[in-house]
Amino acid sequence: MSYSPVEIIIKKRNGEQLSESELKFMFQGYIENQIPDYQMSALLMAIYHKGMKKSEISNLTSIYINSGRIITFPEDIATVDKHSTGGVGDKISIILGPIMAACGAYVPMISGRGLGHTGGTLDKLDSIPGLRTDFSEKEFRKLVLNNGYAIVSQTESLVPIDKHIYALRDVTGTIESLPLITASIMSKKIAEGARNLVIDLKIGSGAFIRNLEAARKLGKLLTNTGNSFGQNVKIIYTNMNSPLGEYVGNSLEILESIHFLQGKKIPDLYQITRRLAITMLQIAGISSSETVAVEHFDNVLNSGAALERFKLMIQAQEGDPAVCDNPQLLPRARYEIPIEATDSGWIEAIDSQNIGYALIGLGAGRRKINDQLDYSAGAYLPHKIGDHLERGARLGSIFCNNLHLVDEAAGKIADSFHLTKQPTKHQELILEY
Ligand code: URA
Repeated sequence: MSYSPVEIIIKKRNGEQLSESELKFMFQGYIENQIPDYQMSALLMAIYHKGMKKSEISNLTSIYINSGRIITFPEDIATVDKHSTGGVGDKISIILGPIMAACGAYVPMISGRGLGHTGGTLDKLDSIPGLRTDFSEKEFRKLVLNNGYAIVSQTESLVPIDKHIYALRDVTGTIESLPLITASIMSKKIAEGARNLVIDLKIGSGAFIRNLEAARKLGKLLTNTGNSFGQNVKIIYTNMNSPLGEYVGNSLEILESIHFLQGKKIPDLYQITRRLAITMLQIAGISSSETVAVEHFDNVLNSGAALERFKLMIQAQEGDPAVCDNPQLLPRARYEIPIEATDSGWIEAIDSQNIGYALIGLGAGRRKINDQLDYSAGAYLPHKIGDHLERGARLGSIFCNNLHLVDEAAGKIADSFHLTKQPTKHQELILEY
């Protein structure tokens, strides 16, 4: 059936429901070059403002999934994955993949690139020299079966609609839409063939979702969509008010992930990763109880088995596993410039979204679809809400290759830390599960 794109855009702009064939005409048409960027951007903005009914979300998710192939795994292996709704400094997928594989799970992970102010797992992995994420579905399946896990991108045969719409949403201010987030996440997670899924639903200043009410709404949409495709979904709501870990930026986050797998217990990263792993191990049927799951988790980290899996994944995906022993092989910024606290006091809030935008200004993320990234750009930001700072003390530092960009980024980052003279508390990291 042929429609007029502009009539469909107007219909959604006026808050009407779109039929399955209208959605297919626009979204499938977009990847077949029948619908130009400007009309798809207008439709995405209309969806952002007017939302979608449950049946539209379910139809849209199916259209995304069926734009490519669906992978299946043998019934007798424990497939489980985790997906984050996005946050600043969130490198947990990079750490969890090898931990789960070392525990005996199979993790077929289709991930994303940077989205809005948040970094993307694929961009981080791309900073490892030689590493590829663009595999055919057959190669992807083989990688998972051989090594226990693989992290790959959407391709022209694996959720191609998400590949293209994700990149367009990144640069058109259309990310924070519950229907679009649901179709994007669940299409990847269903097409990849994982029977069990844990969602790290991030809430706070560095996330796309700012309050528990909206988060619960998204949690329900994600769970219902997964269940309708036969997937077992668990949601864990986590705090994203302070950047996660101590480093933000592509190669810096790979380095921090290696340190984690080598045994460094970075408190917020450790607590959230552990909670996610325990839930994944239980729902996949690998650990019979929380206590057994904790033992599994501790064993693979303490024995180095998880780090070994990470090296195997890098090698299997054609990267250089020597980065794990010699971090000098990762892209490194020419300059590290300290940032000082401009006042004394306790940190009461951090505008983590603003920090994400400051780093995009340094080249760590995209402003336009075809922007090239500077993989070494980023920041060291060890302080969290509840910490005390003295005026002039080190707030962190910026890593960059272009000194002209430093002042703006440093100013933005310093302004993102809101201090008060009253003591503040460290925040709970796991909000609900
Ligand atoms: N992660 C995704 O894969 N898609 C979104 O829209 C948000 C987070």
